[in-house]
Amino acid sequence: MRHHGRSQGGTQKSLVISGKPCDKCFFCLRFWENISKLRVWINFKGVYKQMSKVLITSALPYINGVPHLGHMVGCLLPSDVYARYMRMMGNEVLYICGNDEHGTASEVGALKENMPVQEYCDKYHARHAKTYADFNLSFDYFGRSSSEQNKEMTYHIFEQLDKNGFIAEKTMKQVFSVDDNMFLADRYITGTCPHCGYEKARGDQCENCTKVLEPTDLINPRSTVSGSTNLEVRETKHLFLNLPKIEEKLVEWLKTKEAFWPDVAYSIAKKWVKEGLQPRCITRDLKWGFPVNKAGFENKVFYVWFDAPIGYIGITKQWADEKPTERDWKEWWLDAKDVRYVEFMGKDNVPYHSITFPATLLGTGENWTKVDYLKGFSYLTFEGGKFSKSEHRGVFAEDAVAEFPADYWRYWLMANAPEASDASFTFESFVGTINKDLNGVLGNFAQRVMKMTASKLGSFVPEGGELLAEDEEMIATVQARVNDYFKYMDALEFRKAVAELRAIWVEGNNYITKTEPWQVIKEDEKRAATILRLCLNLVRIYAILSAPLLPQTAEKMLAKFGLKPENMPTLKNFNVAEQITALKSGTPFEAGEALFERITPEKTAELQEKYGGK
Ligand code: MF3
Ligand code: ZN
Repeated sequence: MRHHGRSQGGTQKSLVISGKPCDKCFFCLRFWENISKLRVWINFKGVYKQMSKVLITSALPYINGVPHLGHMVGCLLPSDVYARYMRMMGNEVLYICGNDEHGTASEVGALKENMPVQEYCDKYHARHAKTYADFNLSFDYFGRSSSEQNKEMTYHIFEQLDKNGFIAEKTMKQVFSVDDNMFLADRYITGTCPHCGYEKARGDQCENCTKVLEPTDLINPRSTVSGSTNLEVRETKHLFLNLPKIEEKLVEWLKTKEAFWPDVAYSIAKKWVKEGLQPRCITRDLKWGFPVNKAGFENKVFYVWFDAPIGYIGITKQWADEKPTERDWKEWWLDAKDVRYVEFMGKDNVPYHSITFPATLLGTGENWTKVDYLKGFSYLTFEGGKFSKSEHRGVFAEDAVAEFPADYWRYWLMANAPEASDASFTFESFVGTINKDLNGVLGNFAQRVMKMTASKLGSFVPEGGELLAEDEEMIATVQARVNDYFKYMDALEFRKAVAELRAIWVEGNNYITKTEPWQVIKEDEKRAATILRLCLNLVRIYAILSAPLLPQTAEKMLAKFGLKPENMPTLKNFNVAEQITALKSGTPFEAGEALFERITPEKTAELQEKYGGK
């Protein structure tokens, strides 16, 4: 796309060829305005084809260990909010996730718990699945990278790559632990750092001085698995994905993404390409993994980062295999038409998803669905430090839902998502947000409106009369904010979206403060009834709009009117003026209990003590 460009300082640049719309010059603005009128996908950065099938994946969490709040907000929760939103917009959504199971980390984890790796993975898979269900993550399928389906998929993709000449063989030297009877991954070798003398340096990097190391650099190296010093350097043959050979195709494909990916993701990918792509080793001398399906390599397994992203496809096949007559994995992945694919991940995952995985798919020569939009997140710190299970620092997802309903966490995490930079969780902020936003704004409005109506007019939606200018004004303000809320959601700008949603709730409080129905009722009952009727309808509207973020609360709110989420209208073309009359006069309601509970200073102190670490 050619367009004009003018830099901030005002110096005229020559015509640039790039996919990015210029946001300054008149021509570009007009052009993009017109495009948006054509109802094409706009997401601030560019244009999408109009599509109704949305494929959403969240990076597959490692099976070893249990997720904490940082993991929740680092891709799982945002992907759920987005999936719920896209479904409510009327799209056909397939939302896939699962555990990433292979590799040394699982082998070591199983060893520590003294159980077979398979059993260990089964145990933790169930635990992950339960935690995510408790957080109300609405996966269409939560599968496993170790599934038969993924093995089949991994083998197929590998065979195509090999057939097309993108697989190379290389002999390399690696540390073998005689007592453990295994080759050790670099980070499973511990020793003294030759640079700073730190005694617990890992074979890949010294934590103390941050220097990158080779395992053979270490002084007094030992196995992290057993502590054994009986180590040898042995030769071993491995398979490599020949990225330099795929580079041309990859670069060509990447260019088509420039307009659509967020800048951060695109620049990471570009930087990798610029620094020169190296062949990447895709096999390992381990037992826990898919055995390599190539003669001479049967004793090796595929590297976890080779089969994990293929897991998105393999897990989709797990999903499809459950109802083979109704579901087709190919419709989403192979020669798929009209699928828009959105990936969520932590920023450390971006290179794999923007380079390695697309290159893997491109190398097959087959027409696989590749990422259209890639959303990366930074990190969450806990009270200014790191989460640590062993030091009992930080809130882990299982404990979180035992303390408060999932919606409390969902709200704080999304309102503070580490989008542009790292974010810090503190109980002070959490409690403040829950008490102010959820209790003080949303909960208070709903409760106040219902209680007031019930006591003055009865527990049903009153009839009321004509709308006045102040009512129309409120409706217009809410509509404008709703439009912005959707705009941010479409652009996956979650912090801004949540702020906008909160502002929509605030409008209700502003309206009732301004119109004072409790005063008006003394002289004009009909006018008071009109105001309260609008307010009750706002409660229903808030439930619908909040559902992607606060699914349980939305359900509770609707239940007060005898309504169910599945019977609510789609968000597409959501018209406030129309929706504000949806609850007809005479509809009964029940105020019932408050939507949220205030968190007391005593409880706050208790939480700080309990999760602060020791
Ligand atoms: N398990 C990896 C992590 O937590 C993510 C794997 S994403 C996938 O960093 F694409 F490989 F599945
Ligand atoms: Zn060091």
